[in-house]
Amino acid sequence: MTDPVLTLRDASLSFGSRTLWSGLDLDVQPGEFIAVLGSNGSGKSSLLKVILGQQKLTSGSISFLGAPGRRGDRRIGYVPQQKLADDGTPLRARDLVGLGLSGHRWGVPLPSATRRREVDALLAAVGATEYANVGVSTLSGGEQQRVRIGQALAGDPRLLLCDEPLLSLDLTHQRAVSELIDRQRRERDFGVLFVTHDINPILDMVDRVLYLAGGGFRIGSPSEVLRSEVLSELYGSHVDVIRTHGRVIVVGAPDVSAEHPEHGDHPVHRLEGLP
Ligand SMILES: Nc1ncnc2c1ncn2[C@@H]1O[C@H](COP(=O)(O)OP(=O)(O)OP(=O)(O)O)[C@@H](O)[C@H]1O
Ligand SMILES: [Mg+2]
Repeated sequence: MTDPVLTLRDASLSFGSRTLWSGLDLDVQPGEFIAVLGSNGSGKSSLLKVILGQQKLTSGSISFLGAPGRRGDRRIGYVPQQKLADDGTPLRARDLVGLGLSGHRWGVPLPSATRRREVDALLAAVGATEYANVGVSTLSGGEQQRVRIGQALAGDPRLLLCDEPLLSLDLTHQRAVSELIDRQRRERDFGVLFVTHDINPILDMVDRVLYLAGGGFRIGSPSEVLRSEVLSELYGSHVDVIRTHGRVIVVGAPDVSAEHPEHGDHPVHRLEGLP
C-alpha cells in the first residue's frame, strides 16, 4: 500500500461552543476520489480550509505528504466554492491557467515557450482549447469551471480540493466536469476531495464518501454510508435514504444551518432534503 497523500488524526474543528466535527480520522490515498457530503454549515468548506492551512484544527493533527501542512503549498490544487469571474476582468482563459503554473522549476524561471506549451496542454486536458484566448468573464459558468480546474491542475497537485464544483452547472456540464476530474485523477494519480450537495452526478465515480453531520461523521463506500440507519444515527433523527433509478435521495435530513440562520452562506430549499 502506498503512503496516503493526506492524513488527519483525531481531528476536530470548533467555533466557540459549536463543534463542526470531531474525532476525524481520514487517509486519502493517491488517486482516490472522495465525496464530502453534509448539510449547509456542517463544516465541509472549513475542512478544505484546514487542509489548505487557512484554518487551524481545534485539536488533532494533519499531515500532507508526510509533513505538517503548510499554507500555500502548490501541490494542493483548489477549486473554490463557485464564484463567477468579475465582468470586465481582462484575463483570458490561458492567463488564468498560466497563473497556476509556478513559473519556476528548481528556481529557474520557465522559458516562455515551455510555459506556453504547458498552458496549451492543460487547456487541452480540460477541453478549453477553443476558448483559450477568450476573456474568462465572457465564458459560461461551466466553461469557467473547466478553466479553473485547469488552473488547479497547473501546479501538478498531489491532492485536488473541489468545493461544490458542479453548482449552477446544467446536467451536461455537471457530467463533463465530473468526468474531467475523474479522468485526471486516474491519469495523474492525485487524491480528490469533492464537496457536493448532490452525490448523484459522481455516484459511480467516487471511491468513498465522507458525510459530515451533527458534529460527527461517517466514512465509507457510498453503499456503506448512504443508508437510512447510518444517516439517521448520524443526524440523531429519522432520515430516509431512497434509491431509485440508480439515484440516491436523502429525505428528511435536518438542515444544520436552520439552527444557525446567520451562518448559512447560501441557504438552499431542498424539497426532498438532498444532502
Ligand atoms: N472563521 C470562522 N469563525 C466562526 N465561524 C466560522 C468560521 N468559519 C466558518 N464558520 C462557521 O462554521 C460553519 C461551517 O461553515 P462551512 O463553510 O465549513 O460549512 P459548509 O459545510 O461548507 O456549508 P455550505 O454547504 O453552506 O457551503 C458555519 O456555520 C460557519 O459560519
Ligand atoms: Mg461550503
